[in-house]
Amino acid sequence: MSKGPAQLRLDRLLSNLGYGSRREVQQVIWAGLVTLDGETIDDSDAKIAVTPDLARRMIVDGEPLDPPPGFALMLNKPLGVTCSHKELGPLVYALLPERWRRREPAISTVGRLDKDTSGLLLMTDDGALLHKIISPRSNVAKRYNVTLDRPLRGDEVALFASGTMMLEGEDKPLMPAQMEVLSDKRALVTIGEGRYHQVRRMFAAVGNHVNALHRDRVGGLQLPDDLAPGQYRLLSDADLSLVLEART
Ligand code: URA
Repeated sequence: MSKGPAQLRLDRLLSNLGYGSRREVQQVIWAGLVTLDGETIDDSDAKIAVTPDLARRMIVDGEPLDPPPGFALMLNKPLGVTCSHKELGPLVYALLPERWRRREPAISTVGRLDKDTSGLLLMTDDGALLHKIISPRSNVAKRYNVTLDRPLRGDEVALFASGTMMLEGEDKPLMPAQMEVLSDKRALVTIGEGRYHQVRRMFAAVGNHVNALHRDRVGGLQLPDDLAPGQYRLLSDADLSLVLEART
């Protein structure tokens, strides 16, 4: 028998989405400010089936409900913002609506991009999905547009594809990576792993230096041209299937 959608009490649902404490959201509900399919729900204990379409069907104080739990988004990460609380500088979370920072479960980044790397960053509050994408066995392909300081020396494509390349300080060779040369100082590099500063370290290992790094693809999902740096967009089920479709 298939499991139906999770059910949550209305006050719990809203407080988990960051609308306020249980007490605060109860006031909003009792004031008749929450509707579902056009009907006011003023019972804070009402059991709500948590389905993705709730964001269209529920209105809270005149606005559509925030994405219900179990969602994912893509962000065009600008340069200079960080994915980690451990690094100095503005965090990617500051690019999302303020209320989303109080959500439970919390939203996290799907893997990380360096502060100096721009481009396609996925974020989700769904732990199982996060694991599926970043687990070492999933090998979801990540493609980077690389701009180098010095011209390519010529053996990089073969070396990166060899499956024997070692990074400094590591004892396990890198999985084969694909590289497409765009010009003497530009290339597209696709990796399945996500080791610390991997692309920068791969080029450092061949005596080069990465001047600019931009991720334009995760799995089969391409960063849309009309998504400006700093903007985000929710992912559909079709987008998520694309993410998981291209493995190395
Ligand atoms: N490789 C890097 O060096 N940096 C990133 O942000 C991603 C991959």
